[in-house]
Amino acid sequence: MQSNAIRLDFRSDTVTRPTTKMRAAMAAADVGDDVLGDDFTVQALEARVAAMFGKDAGLLLPTGTMANLAAIMSHCQRGEEYLCASGAHTYLWEAGGAAVLGSVQPQPLPIRADGTIPIEDLHAAVKDDDAHFAITRLVSIENTFAGRVLPREHLAEIVEFARERKLATHLDGARLFNAAAALGVDVGYLAGGFDSVSVCLSKGLGAPLGSVLVGDAPLIARARRWRKMLGGGMRQAGIVAAAGLYALDHHVERLAVDHANAKALADGFSEIKGLTVIPPQSNIVFVELAPELAIRLSEALRELGIAASFWPGGRMRWVTHLDVDRVAVDEAIAAVREAAESRR
Ligand SMILES: Cc1ncc(COP(=O)(O)O)c(C=O)c1O
Repeated sequence: MQSNAIRLDFRSDTVTRPTTKMRAAMAAADVGDDVLGDDFTVQALEARVAAMFGKDAGLLLPTGTMANLAAIMSHCQRGEEYLCASGAHTYLWEAGGAAVLGSVQPQPLPIRADGTIPIEDLHAAVKDDDAHFAITRLVSIENTFAGRVLPREHLAEIVEFARERKLATHLDGARLFNAAAALGVDVGYLAGGFDSVSVCLSKGLGAPLGSVLVGDAPLIARARRWRKMLGGGMRQAGIVAAAGLYALDHHVERLAVDHANAKALADGFSEIKGLTVIPPQSNIVFVELAPELAIRLSEALRELGIAASFWPGGRMRWVTHLDVDRVAVDEAIAAVREAAESRR
């Protein structure tokens, strides 16, 4: 039974419920105490994701937030800093964890419309060796970034910049599989040269929870210690890892379907008066609209059991995923059209 009145949920790709087959894989998982090193299903997942990125080791964490935090704390010491985009998840959406728990300062930088950070801005942001300043240690990049797919060339440019300035690199790849699907490339290729990468199993891949951080063996050993301190050492976590393994086997190729559905939503919305659609590059559609229209739409949709995200000031976000198919997309477009065109 549904736990709430939402029938079609476009708020995020995190809302998916594990499929029957995924639940069966979880139920059948061989488990052990992972903190004691006994869970072979977790180890299989960690090794598999590490291999996808050509890294020594992987680490399963409960969330993307903890994976990013453990990565930042493993790269940086107290009093150091990382460079990131001003809208980066690690900076804006993780409750200031790097600063609060890691004593690591974020240095946010403006982005271009396509989500990339100009390399000259990155160079200018690296602090001189001066006692006034935090020590710049890391550059952290997010891909996809608010649904935008950062091209491989930009990522390569970031890696080159970091090597030149002797900085470490972290890639927040919560939706890296979406970026890779959009570009038609391999995730490992897309992340090539980054020292650490975190990927989420609980977004487009449809697992109920779990993120994997990969890197070289010393980095992952440090991250394992931080994971323990942060309370993320999970015991019979094989049931989580089994969902992740199932997702990697069955839910990667189908991301193209989510992208096609996002495009269909965007195309449908573009024909509705009063909506300005930002063409999607992956599974996230942003639409700008007058604040009054946004209120009217959100109320009408709520009554129909259709959910999207609305921001004050006139912006809405629709995210496609495993639990919304083309029929749901068509119903959503029709509902938005009806509500937008109806008289108040
Ligand atoms: C880009 C990005 N990084 C990290 C996270 C954090 O993931 P979690 O919600 O599992 O903590 C999210 C969550 O939406 C995200 O969008």
